[in-house]
Amino acid sequence: MKISVEDFFNSQSVTWGDQYQSQKAFKSRKTIALHFASRFQDGSKILDFGCGSGEIAEFLSHKNLQVTGCDANQKMLDLAKKRENQNFTCFQSSLPPFPLEPRQFDGIYSLSVFEYLDDPNIFFREFSRILKPGGTFLFTVPDMRDEFRIRETKQAKLARNPVVRVFLKFFQFLEKYLFTFGISLSKFREFPLIGRAFVQYEVFKFLNISKNRFSPSKWKQLGEDCGFDVESIPNSNGPLLTLVFINKVGS
Ligand SMILES: C[S@@+](CC[C@H](N)C(=O)[O-])C[C@H]1O[C@@H](n2cnc3c(N)ncnc32)[C@H](O)[C@@H]1O
Repeated sequence: MKISVEDFFNSQSVTWGDQYQSQKAFKSRKTIALHFASRFQDGSKILDFGCGSGEIAEFLSHKNLQVTGCDANQKMLDLAKKRENQNFTCFQSSLPPFPLEPRQFDGIYSLSVFEYLDDPNIFFREFSRILKPGGTFLFTVPDMRDEFRIRETKQAKLARNPVVRVFLKFFQFLEKYLFTFGISLSKFREFPLIGRAFVQYEVFKFLNISKNRFSPSKWKQLGEDCGFDVESIPNSNGPLLTLVFINKVGS
């Protein structure tokens, strides 16, 4: 089964923002964003790369930061646009170079985006170009040391089983078919049997596109190769690994 990142987030866009109300994992992104914000003075220029529907960017724009959002997905971006204000604007792009002047950002953050990128290096280099010397780039990716991620790795292996692949093909067909009538599979989430099968299908789809599941030291190496100093790697503390890179270029 091959799923595109775009298709996946098209279907997720409808309910993405709701997850900030209900899920602990989403609330923790706000906490990470707040820590990030505390590094900057009022009026600092910040890029939210992969801003999704713009919840976090809007949140930080109310903390006296000038936030620019960027996302590849038009549906997500349409939702983010509704949140634009004096301190928050956003644009669509999926690949560097971005239409942005060099050395203009004090900080860049990217929450749960880098695992989906085909070539993270291209983005690291671009961020090094648009960040001021000494500027901070913070991002989160799956922490492969965490129990939850270890279980996911086992599930990803299961997705290669021939029987499971038939199940996935069937759901993929069903999803496309219902979509032609404007019906989303997620509507059946609460149904007793099909609901559980749907949730499992969503997990397999997610694991298919969440592909950059590197160790902390590999991320560190990639960052260093692209012109960043890497702040110390935190101990495993849940499913999200937060890394902080400092732009060496020009400093
Ligand atoms: C898991 S969501 C995270 C959204 C947001 N950062 C948040 O925490 O709510 C991943 C986002 O990354 C975006 N994305 C994936 N690949 C991208 C790319 N190449 N360029 C820009 N955005 C991308 C997706 O469209 C999606 O909105």
